[in-house]
Amino acid sequence: MLVLGLETSCDETAAAVLKDGGNLLSNVINDQIGIHSKYGGIVPELAGRSHIERVHRVIEEAVQIADVQLSDIDLIAVTMGPGLIGSLLVGLNTAKGLAYGLNTPMIGVNHLEGHLFAIFLQKKVEFPFIALIVSGGHTDLYRVTDFGHYKLLGRTRDDAAGESFDKVGKMLGLPYPGGPGIEKLARQGNGKLHKFPRAYLEKGSLDFSFSGLKTSVRTFLQRREQNTSINLTDEDISAAFQEAVIDVLVDKLISACKNEQLTRIVVTGGVASNGALREAVQKAAQVCGFEASVPDPIFCTDNAAMIACAGYHKYTRDQSLSANLRGLDAKANLALE
Ligand code: KG4
Ligand code: ZN
Repeated sequence: MLVLGLETSCDETAAAVLKDGGNLLSNVINDQIGIHSKYGGIVPELAGRSHIERVHRVIEEAVQIADVQLSDIDLIAVTMGPGLIGSLLVGLNTAKGLAYGLNTPMIGVNHLEGHLFAIFLQKKVEFPFIALIVSGGHTDLYRVTDFGHYKLLGRTRDDAAGESFDKVGKMLGLPYPGGPGIEKLARQGNGKLHKFPRAYLEKGSLDFSFSGLKTSVRTFLQRREQNTSINLTDEDISAAFQEAVIDVLVDKLISACKNEQLTRIVVTGGVASNGALREAVQKAAQVCGFEASVPDPIFCTDNAAMIACAGYHKYTRDQSLSANLRGLDAKANLALE
């Protein structure tokens, strides 16, 4: 079974062809970093327009690399939310046009469901497991019982983890998105020279909060500017900031496993491509005797292979989920149910 995945929820125009749920034939990701980086963040209007310009080329490329014809596709899986509405609509309407023209079934996929099942592109994780989705828009902890069965255990109350990387990156003069730049700086810094606050919130809470940490970094940078005796480098500050984020993420992840009496962990989303976080998760899991699975970095950040994968599993379990073209709408705030 050939699935064409399409992802345009934010600033990546992506298409992928997946065979039989596990054999990835192509994975084309066209990012718009060049367009948005000078603004220090994503400009929704520009993102939507840029998807329109690129989406057909990206699909053509995905089909060519996979060495198949569009008419061979058995299912089109497309991100229907959450995300930027103008961007989502481009992918969704392109998918509808293709589905109509090719007379192929299509299925709407929740972007977060895509992140959750990105790991299934590489290995099968037994249900149930605890999943931590850490991206630019989300920091969510779920108990995942099966495809389509999710219980939200905790989420950020303000900034998402990736958003805090992006905002601190901006303060340090790094290009958008800040995550990769901070990781690079942190590798050369000493994170022990300063301790930024960790927001663990009320006892037992599995929610997150990163806005205080961001403010603390801003205040520290202002103090450094005024006080020549503070000689921490951007590298040291990046390392200290990254440590503060990772400490809280890992602490709550392990607490979630203990509360739910589960031993399998999946960590996913753009921030999960961070090497220090990946290492910390594996280390903490090992200490507790848990098994942690983290997709390769290319499947952590936004891509269409994960959408094809989630779509494949949803559709093969329940074909009635395939959408009638009129009934499927893009939803900017789509929740994971
Ligand atoms: O999943 P994703 O590609 O898009 C969303 O669904 O939001 O995640 C993007 C986020 C950005 O905030 C970016 O700064 C962060 O992931 N990110 C990283 C790294 N690579 C991407 N954060 C920390 N370290 C990284 N290496
Ligand atoms: Zn994402």
